[in-house]
Amino acid sequence: MKIAIIGAGNLGMSIAEGVLSTNGATSMILTKRNLGDLKELEKYGIVSTTSDNREAVSKSDILIFTVQPGQFTKILNEVKDLLTDKHVIISTITGFSIAKIEEVIGPDNYIIRAMPNTAISVGKSMTCICSNEKGQKRIELAKAIFNRMGHTLQIPEQQMQAATVICASGIAFWMRMIRATTQGAIQLGFDAKEAQELAMHTCNGAASLLIESDSHPEYEIDKVTTPRGCTISGLNEMEHQGLSSSLIRGILASFDKINEIKKE
Ligand SMILES: NC(=O)c1ccc[n+]([C@@H]2O[C@H](COP(=O)([O-])OP(=O)(O)OC[C@H]3O[C@@H](n4cnc5c(N)ncnc54)[C@H](OP(=O)(O)O)[C@@H]3O)[C@@H](O)[C@H]2O)c1
Repeated sequence: MKIAIIGAGNLGMSIAEGVLSTNGATSMILTKRNLGDLKELEKYGIVSTTSDNREAVSKSDILIFTVQPGQFTKILNEVKDLLTDKHVIISTITGFSIAKIEEVIGPDNYIIRAMPNTAISVGKSMTCICSNEKGQKRIELAKAIFNRMGHTLQIPEQQMQAATVICASGIAFWMRMIRATTQGAIQLGFDAKEAQELAMHTCNGAASLLIESDSHPEYEIDKVTTPRGCTISGLNEMEHQGLSSSLIRGILASFDKINEIKKE
C-alpha cells in the first residue's frame, strides 16, 4: 500500500507511527507546510516528506487527510484533478460530512470517514468508520489500516456525531473515572503514584475482561458482589449518588453540544 498522510500533525503522526510499526505500507509520504518535525520518520526507509500535496497524491493510492477542518476544502481543490480510480480518500476530519467532500471532488471517488481517538498513539484507538456508496468497496481496506491501531466499527454516517461523544470525548470521561478512583485510593492510604497504578490497571483489566471473554458488565459484577459484602455496599452507594445517571446525562449533554456546534 502506498499511503500519503496529508497534514501530518498530532493525529497524522500517530497514524504514521501505527502503520509503520506494523509494516502496513510499502511507501509513505507525509505532508505539511513546516517539515521540521517530520524528518525523524525518515529513519524508516520507506518514508518521505514534502510540502507538496500534489506530489503526495500522485505518488500514493491511499490518501489519509488529517488537517484541521478549515484547511480541508482548499487542499481538496488543490489536488482534485489528480484523483483517479486507484485513490481511496480517508478523512479523519471531525464534522466534515461526506456530502461536503463530494461537493468538492464529486461522488465518483472512494470516500471514507474515520473517527479515531487519542489512544491511537498507543495502538488502542476505538475508530468508527463510514463511507459513501462507492467507498463501500474499500471499507475493509480502511478497517484493516485502523485495526493496526486498535479496534474499528463500521457505522452509518448519521451516527458519527454520537460516536464522537462516546469514543473521542469518551477518553476524557474515562480519564475522570480513573482520576476519581485514584483520589479514593489516596484517601485510603496509597501514595499518588501507586494509587494511579491501581486505578488504571484495574480499569484496563475490567475492559479486557469484557473484550476477551465477550462477557456482560452485570455478569462480571455478579461475580464480585458477595451478599452483604463490601463491593455491593460501595456500588449501591455510588448508584444512590447517581453514578450511572450522571454518566448517561453527561453523554447526552455532550451530544446536545456537538449538535449545537454543528448548526453554528
Ligand atoms: N487528535 C485527535 O485525536 C483527533 C481525533 C479524531 C479526529 N481528529 C481530527 O483530525 C484532524 C487533525 O487533528 P490534529 O490534532 O492532528 O491537528 P494538527 O496537529 O493541527 O494537524 C494538522 C496538520 O496539518 C498541517 N497542515 C496545515 N495546512 C496544510 C496544508 N495546506 N498542507 C499540508 N498540511 C497542512 C499542519 O502543519 P503545518 O502548519 O506545518 O502545515 C498540521 O500539522 C482534525 O480535523 C481533527 O478534527 C483528531
